[in-house]
Amino acid sequence: AVVLAVSAVVSYLMGGLNGAIVASRLFHREDIREKGSGNPGFTNYKRVYGNGLVTWLVLIFDVVKTMFVVSITAWVMWAYFDQWQFGAQFSGLCAMLGHCFPVWYRFKGGKAFMAGFATIWFVDWRMTLMAMALFLLVLFTLKYMSVASCTASLFCPIILPFLGVANIWVEILAIAGAALIILRHHENFAKLLRGEESKFSLKSKKAS
Ligand code: G3P
Repeated sequence: AVVLAVSAVVSYLMGGLNGAIVASRLFHREDIREKGSGNPGFTNYKRVYGNGLVTWLVLIFDVVKTMFVVSITAWVMWAYFDQWQFGAQFSGLCAMLGHCFPVWYRFKGGKAFMAGFATIWFVDWRMTLMAMALFLLVLFTLKYMSVASCTASLFCPIILPFLGVANIWVEILAIAGAALIILRHHENFAKLLRGEESKFSLKSKKAS
């Protein structure tokens, strides 16, 4: 219980650190949350500031910060309790909550897709590879980042029981993680219905 309590706090605080917010303040004297879609994440950073090195660092930062706390929790939970899968999923969900509702930035954060992606490597790597393939397929056919993110997120808790879960809590946390990401995309779904959702492109300097 002590390990989980410490992990929850550290994961939440680390998850809250946001590369897009820091970089927009540092390099543009702006807040990314007032630009483009208002989302402090890779997609919107690319949309607003283009396809530069910092844009990719924003993405890498969100993945690395999450992998850091998730891997440590998974390792401690494995070493002392033989519960690494639960540890990874628990820490990951806390980091995702931190990313969405960060204490550092008045609780206005992102949509946690990258934090979720970083987490699932430590839950089941086979699921992650499949989710990645699905994500890329949807992204490069439909070109909507939000649809690709939510499809891949939904896929994970569906496939996970077939691959094997350590206990029911792993599955419950996986469902909660996917639900969090999908709920955080509600504005994207409204935009999709209105035909206003922007498409993602790797090539163009700025996505429309
Ligand atoms: O993970 C975020 C992405 O799916 C959508 O971002 O900026 O288009 O709302 P955005």
